[in-house]
Amino acid sequence: MSNETIISVSRENRIFRPSAEFQRQANLGNQATYKKLYAESVNNPERFWRTQALKELVWRKPFRDVLKWSPPHAKWFAGGKLNVAENCLDRHMGTARENKAAIIFEGEPGDVRTITYRQLLFHVNRLAHVFENLGIVAGDRVAIYLPMVPEAIIAMLACARIGAVHTVVFGGFSAEALKDRINDCKARLVITADGGWRRGKVVELKATVDKALEGAPSVQTVLVLRRCKNAVHMHNGRDVWWHEAWEGAPNRHEAKAFDSEHPLYILYTSGSTGKPKGVLHTSAGYLLGAKLSAYYVFDLKENDRYFCTADIGWVTGHSYVVYGLLSNGATVFIYEGAPNQPEPDRLWRMIDRHGITILYTAPTAIRAFMRWGDNYVLRHRLDSLRLLGSVGEPINPEAWMWYYTLIGKKRCPIVDTWWQTETGSIMITPLPGVTPLKPGSGTLPFFGAAPKIVDDEGREVPRNTGGKLVITKPWPSMLRTLWGDDARFRKAYWSPLLGNGDCYITGDGARQDKDGYFWIVGRIDDVLNVSGHRIGTAEIESALVSHHAVAEAAAVGKPDDLKGQSLVVFVTLKAGLQPCDKLKEELRAHVGKEIGPIAKPDQIRFTAALPKTRSGKIMRRILKEIAAGGEVKGDTTTLEDFSVVTSLIANEE
Ligand code: WTA
Repeated sequence: MSNETIISVSRENRIFRPSAEFQRQANLGNQATYKKLYAESVNNPERFWRTQALKELVWRKPFRDVLKWSPPHAKWFAGGKLNVAENCLDRHMGTARENKAAIIFEGEPGDVRTITYRQLLFHVNRLAHVFENLGIVAGDRVAIYLPMVPEAIIAMLACARIGAVHTVVFGGFSAEALKDRINDCKARLVITADGGWRRGKVVELKATVDKALEGAPSVQTVLVLRRCKNAVHMHNGRDVWWHEAWEGAPNRHEAKAFDSEHPLYILYTSGSTGKPKGVLHTSAGYLLGAKLSAYYVFDLKENDRYFCTADIGWVTGHSYVVYGLLSNGATVFIYEGAPNQPEPDRLWRMIDRHGITILYTAPTAIRAFMRWGDNYVLRHRLDSLRLLGSVGEPINPEAWMWYYTLIGKKRCPIVDTWWQTETGSIMITPLPGVTPLKPGSGTLPFFGAAPKIVDDEGREVPRNTGGKLVITKPWPSMLRTLWGDDARFRKAYWSPLLGNGDCYITGDGARQDKDGYFWIVGRIDDVLNVSGHRIGTAEIESALVSHHAVAEAAAVGKPDDLKGQSLVVFVTLKAGLQPCDKLKEELRAHVGKEIGPIAKPDQIRFTAALPKTRSGKIMRRILKEIAAGGEVKGDTTTLEDFSVVTSLIANEE
């Protein structure tokens, strides 16, 4: 293995300090307090987490031990009992939050529903009775395959209430992908809808479930929500309409208490190879991590209206739509459909219509908005916004500045939050009232997170040197194992290669700058070795998109006899621009100027679109195969649009 450093040569010197105005009202507005609390959280984690767990969660039975750590297995708050749904709902009854909006929903056709905390509790209670009547008991797995509608949240919380383990499968996944996930965890119940609205059309979810269930014998019941009123075939003895089962169920439901370590959910996430990994999260520690981080990172206030664009099928939807927000009694806005339906200003229109104060979205979405043009933004006021967030991939400084200027009007701090499905909650992030921001950096660790950057032998590297991002201490919301495959869990995340078997390996490359700020370079397998220099694809991409003609870019390595790897970039241009050789030369020169001659792409390929997962991540693995001139092998089930791949291959140079 090579020890060369990851080259991190982005020149980003801009610093944005919190305004006095924001700082004054912030939940945490004092740098010294952050430093003190952070130091305690990593130097004396048991004391820190004991205090937080007692303060933040409603316990039925107090815990004995804060942490039992037998690497790589952690038990948090052992001996304690609670109910996660009660912590999100019942606890607000009898307070000012009882009649506050918990969920504001806008469907793609424009229909709006507001559900108060009290109403949400009734919905959840009723569904909990429905589950029990169907014979679902604690520990059973329930697959949720729904559009982004309030019932998705209701279904998750009803599972939590009776101790059933949910596995939410994103509504854009195919029948094949759904079947694999159901079979892996042997779900007994599937919850779906007739359909959901997407780009003005009905996505026929029920039909997909029918197909998936041809090969999924564990499923006994399918509960079907009526959303689009499209025709569906109901299988006798298996399929039940939600509204029929729900009718007449009591609004009250006695919630049982479950152990702190009772499984809460399984969420499947793709690994670099093989079938998806079933990340397992449990109850108390997970909820505490999600709740505490949501409160400080989003600086939650009673009158906030928080909008996260992530679907419920991703971990962001779990932690920062449902568990972290509702446990804090926040008002959460959710939207069913596409961001450009009927026009590319849908998000901005909804922000004004509903008075959204906090927006949490992904860099890929931000780049799409940039590409669609500023005019769609400028039509709207956006003056209710006070805080912006980013998650999912490194945000290139160009997109950061656009987000900051056009959306936030230079008034709203941006929290660039680094975390993973596996970490359960945000690990590296600015706190908006205290942390000076640098565009493109996730800045500093959150409470309890102990990240470190190490070389291939597990030695910590000096500042400004790239390496592998690891986490050196257990934290409450960490994954507990991979469902049904503890051996893979150990192997994927806790390889003793790094010399310390109890260090969690994130799989990301990163560096820390002189101020200790973390800069995530991207997945380690997205790091290239060109002429002995390791260089992050994210930085090349960031350089490319800083050119005025470029909308989006992806960089991959291609095996090269001379250089080890040569650099191939795939580029989409902004609307109305035509590819030409002159532009290719200009882009090469531009990257050379931004990063240095070694980063100049060997080949530039213009394309109308990049292959992406349905959550918007560019599938570099596929681009690597295309760049290498071979056919596309391996799993393409997570691809949003296969025709992108076909046309890329057809345009082979
Ligand atoms: C990447 C999403 C840079 C990273 C919550 C990580 C990020 C993977 C950021 C996890 C960020 C997520 N800056 N990179 N702010 N947030 N990533 O499991 O590579 O879908 O390992 O969780 O996304 O993706 P996942």
